Amino acid sequence: MAAWQGLIHRYRSRMNIHGEAVSLCEGNTPLIPCPRLAEWACPGANLYIKYEGLNPTGSFKDRGMTTAITEAAHHGARTVICASTGNTAASAAAYAARAGIHCVVLIPDGKVALGKLAGAMAYGAQVLQIEGSFDFALKMVRDLTNDTDVVLVNSLNPARLEGQKTAAFEVVEQLSAVPDWLCLPVGNAGNISAYWMGFNQMVSEGESRTLPIVLGAQAEGAAPIVYDRVFEQPETLATAIRIGNPARWDQANQAIKESNGRMLAVTDAEIIEAYQKVAQLEGIFCEPSSAAGIAGLRKNPVQPGETVVCVLTGHGLKDPDSALSTSSAPQKIAAVQDELRGAIGC
Ligand code: F0G
Repeated sequence: MAAWQGLIHRYRSRMNIHGEAVSLCEGNTPLIPCPRLAEWACPGANLYIKYEGLNPTGSFKDRGMTTAITEAAHHGARTVICASTGNTAASAAAYAARAGIHCVVLIPDGKVALGKLAGAMAYGAQVLQIEGSFDFALKMVRDLTNDTDVVLVNSLNPARLEGQKTAAFEVVEQLSAVPDWLCLPVGNAGNISAYWMGFNQMVSEGESRTLPIVLGAQAEGAAPIVYDRVFEQPETLATAIRIGNPARWDQANQAIKESNGRMLAVTDAEIIEAYQKVAQLEGIFCEPSSAAGIAGLRKNPVQPGETVVCVLTGHGLKDPDSALSTSSAPQKIAAVQDELRGAIGC
C-alpha cells in the first residue's frame, strides 16, 4: 500500500479545495476499541475512540488547517491570523511555517495550556495575548480580516470544515459502518458542524445510508448551547472549550436537531474523572477538554449493542500541568533495593 500522504491527497475529489497541498501527512488517525472504558461509560455498548491527538501538532485542528492554509497559499496570502484557546494556534503556526506564510495568533492571556503555547512559539508564529476571552479575541480578528488582506483561519473559514469533515469519512471507513452515536466536546462548534457535513456528504454520495446520533458535551461553566444563552465569562479547567459564544452555534443546533441528538453540560469534576479513566483504563492520554465527550457519554443512556465513537480531540501532552495537578506526586525513595521493595510491597 502506498504511504499515507495526508487528507488532501486522499480526499481531494470530495473537497472544495484548490492549489498544491500544504500537508504534514495529517489524518488517518486510529480508531481504537475501548471495552474497559465502555464498562465505565456505556456498559454493553461497543465503544471506539477516534484518537485525534495523534495528528502532527497533536490535535484535530490539523485536518482543517491543511485545507485552510492550502487555500490561503493558493490565493497568495502573506499573513494568516486566528483567535485560539491554543490548539488552533499551534496548528495554524505549523502549517503556515510549512507554506512560508506569516502567522499571527491571538490568545487569552494565561488560559492556554503549556504545550499549545510552546508549539505556537516553536513554529515561529507571532503570539499576541489579550486580557479577555477567546470570544473577544475572535471578534477582534474577524474585524481585522474584514477590511485587510490578512486571512482568517478560524473555523468560520469554510476551508477549515472541508478538511475537518474527513474525520467522518475515516470513521465510516474504519468501522465499515456508520456508528449509532458520535460523541464529542463542543467549543466554538466547528468540529461538530464538520462531522455533520461529512456524514451527510457520505449519504448524498451513496457511500452510506444512515447518520449517527450526535452527542455534544460542553463544560458546565461554558455551556452556551446547552442553556441557550451567551456566557459572558466562560470558566472551566477545560481551557480548549472555554468559549461563551460559539461561532457555529446554529450549525451545532442543526446537527443536534437533525440527528435527534443531545447537547449536555458536564462539570469540571466529571471531565477530570473521564480524563483519568480513559488514561488509566485504556492507556490513552488526552487533554481534559477531549474527555468532556466521554463524560457526556457516561451521563447519556446508550443501548447495549450500539456502536459509539468518541472523538478525543487533543493529546494529553498538550496540557502537562493538568496531568500533574490531577495525579499524586511521584514518591521519592532512597536509592536502595529495600526501599524499592518496600514501596511496591514485595
Ligand atoms: N477539543 C479541543 C482539544 C479543542 O482544542 C477544541 C477547540 C475543541 C475540542 C472544540 O472544538 O471549537 O470545533 O467546537 N479549540 C479551539 C482552539 C477553539 O482555538 O484551539 P470546536
